[in-house]
Amino acid sequence: MCHNGGGEAFVRRGTGADAPSRRVFTRLLLAGTGLAALAACTPDPAAEPAGTPGPTPGLSPGTGSATQTATATASTSPLPASPAPATPAPTTTPTPTRPKAAPSPSAAAPGPQHSLTDPASPWVVVNKHRPLSPATFVPPDLARPAVRLATSGEAALLNSTTAAAAEKMFAAAAADGVTITLASGYRSFTTQTAIYGGYAASRGRADADTASARPGYSEHQTGWSFDIGDGGGACSFQPCFAQQPAAVWAKANAHRFGFVVRYPWMLQGITGYYYEPWHLRYIGTGAATDMFTRGISTLEQYFGVGAAPAYR
Ligand code: DAL
Ligand code: ZN
Repeated sequence: MCHNGGGEAFVRRGTGADAPSRRVFTRLLLAGTGLAALAACTPDPAAEPAGTPGPTPGLSPGTGSATQTATATASTSPLPASPAPATPAPTTTPTPTRPKAAPSPSAAAPGPQHSLTDPASPWVVVNKHRPLSPATFVPPDLARPAVRLATSGEAALLNSTTAAAAEKMFAAAAADGVTITLASGYRSFTTQTAIYGGYAASRGRADADTASARPGYSEHQTGWSFDIGDGGGACSFQPCFAQQPAAVWAKANAHRFGFVVRYPWMLQGITGYYYEPWHLRYIGTGAATDMFTRGISTLEQYFGVGAAPAYR
């Protein structure tokens, strides 16, 4: 089951009720933004590609000394570590599995340290406990990357650093014979308001919150994130996208270009969102490769800011 708000198909639970919501949502997008919006899907264990491991072992949220070192050396004060997620996942979905092993933290993220709160920082952690500040932040350096686009308007923009990294990554994928498209990039506060409102109107806030960030809480507004497609529309914004070549390639290679898959499989108890194999986030090659090498799956774990399963 999947929820797509992106100018692409908007699939709801139950086939009979799909059409009205899809029309409403499409109108929302066409009305003002021309944006390919986000999507998120209810995890379905059957959707995970064969041979793909479950949750990647990593640190328990907010417990590692290494993550505290990382935050302590960042340019802003770290938030206090939060306890393990207390909010259960929706009853219709599997309970998030916490990492079984908690490897001893080794070292802080390599290279220069960055703010975890400044939305212009590549390490800003935005989640349900950490809204953007200011809420109406607009990246000062929005740019249109020279990549294959599956969207237009503001959704085709990224901040300049992310745009440059995306160009390298898409080119590398193409050299490997894999097509990746930019399906949804930057979103303004106003756009996110429309998108979240569309979800909430059709599905209710509780369900919307598993798929779409509330205005002021979306990484897309920072310009550091974007959603990918595969050029053919196969499984766009659906769990089965994880099995498409674009997603398989990105999962294995995105770190080399500074990206992580921000909302991993079955870690919604930490990130607050269901699996989004299409949603990439730039944090720089040093940190992304460090996360990949150490098997740490979420920014919350890596930077030790605590889980954010729900809004406070
Ligand atoms: N789908 C992600 C969580 C967003 O709305 O930013
Ligand atoms: Zn996204």
